[in-house]
Amino acid sequence: MNSSRRQLLIRGAGGVLALPLLGGGAWPADDARLAEIRMGRDPVVLTAAERLTVLGPGLRPIPAWLFADTPFPVLRARRGQTMTVVLNNRLPQHTAIHWHGVRTPNAMDGVPYLTQPPVQPGETFTYSFAPPDAGTYFFHPHCNTAEQLGRGMLGALIVEEDEPARFDDELVLILKDWRLDPDGDFLPFSTLSGASRAGSFGTLRTVNGRPSPRIASPAGGALRLRLINADCARICDLGLEGAAAEVVAVDGSPIGPLPLDTWRFAPGMRLDLRVRMPRAGEVRLVDYFAAAPVTLASVTAGGEPAAVQESEPSGPPAAIPPIDLAGAWRHTLELGAGLAPASIPDIQPIVLADGRRIDLADSLCLGSNTFWAFDGQSWPEAAMGRLPPPLFTLASGRSVALELSNTTSRAHPIHLHGHAMTVLSASVLARPVHRADTVLVMPNERVQTAFVAGQPGAWMIHCHVVEHQETGMMAWFRVS
Ligand code: C2O
Ligand code: CU
Repeated sequence: MNSSRRQLLIRGAGGVLALPLLGGGAWPADDARLAEIRMGRDPVVLTAAERLTVLGPGLRPIPAWLFADTPFPVLRARRGQTMTVVLNNRLPQHTAIHWHGVRTPNAMDGVPYLTQPPVQPGETFTYSFAPPDAGTYFFHPHCNTAEQLGRGMLGALIVEEDEPARFDDELVLILKDWRLDPDGDFLPFSTLSGASRAGSFGTLRTVNGRPSPRIASPAGGALRLRLINADCARICDLGLEGAAAEVVAVDGSPIGPLPLDTWRFAPGMRLDLRVRMPRAGEVRLVDYFAAAPVTLASVTAGGEPAAVQESEPSGPPAAIPPIDLAGAWRHTLELGAGLAPASIPDIQPIVLADGRRIDLADSLCLGSNTFWAFDGQSWPEAAMGRLPPPLFTLASGRSVALELSNTTSRAHPIHLHGHAMTVLSASVLARPVHRADTVLVMPNERVQTAFVAGQPGAWMIHCHVVEHQETGMMAWFRVS
């Protein structure tokens, strides 16, 4: 075994837990702070495997599928730094890694069948790219997603500004619920009733894989919260109690700062907040969407009072060319109901370039049910390897005015791969003009967005309520 390979294995085996936590100061480290991996020149190995995991006191171990020994690894890189991640698949089924929100080259986008072959059990795949924009991102598979994400396959990717904004402390908080029965076994990850309505919700709500964690942060300090909604289905209405907060970035893109009232926070979205910690007491992250408000996590003022940095909230915006709205290609994308299953073509095994056959029926959760569609076209996960025609083809650099028109009675967070849309206006939910890669479209809402076609390749667009995606609300477009 050569030395670089040995090094990879060592890192893969224990590096994630053994690495010191970043940002540790005078206050005691809390186990709900996620372990971070600083990206360097060496590749980092993420081993996707089943790991028995205890989510909280009094809970039984569950057979989670994780990228590291604990939920969830946080990778930290600098803008423009080449980062290399080796996915080592030790799961019983194929997988891949999609870098959600990052403008990677198309070949690194991690969509099986569309941008790469699926990574089979026992195989590895190397991702290498230089994230062009600072911000809060996350990563997850794009295969059998309700189950793989539902069992815990995700992590955060933090891309730092060239001149990092000064804060006394920073916390990554990942919202993700788990579908568990009273014995601690997983409930079905997809259900017909969930897939055809608002999704199947988790029974145990967690932040950083812990039910209502408490995390200490310096008293009086400037705290940056990086919130990630990695749930498969749940849309929250987020707010903070105990301190005022400002929104400083949405999906990684700087904004404002805008005072936070509440923010409708759907799967796939990220929100960066600047919070001034109180001198004593705690700040609570609350979801007001439920019948009674739910405290998701608490940050307690602890340790020595901070030096009180006067922080600049964030760096320069992403280097995306300006949109030419007047000359834009215009399209209204209809978010609609799906076709009857009978009209879906039969599923065929697909044959990769090297001759291997993949039986798609293996990885299916819901057969070929198609409850949802874009522009009348359903593409269920069951037929992932049978590409429908692209929704549209654009020349790189072309400005696009894309209206998202929801003709259904459910909300759909629409995620565009490899691009950030500018959200210009919306007919139901008031929101500031901002840039986002995941745009929540409320029932019967029309949302006007615009973007510039980016790097050449085949890019996905889909609903991030995973059961909607898997039952048809998924498509792709080509940039040439
Ligand atoms: Cu986070 Cu195509 O998704
Ligand atoms: Cu949806």
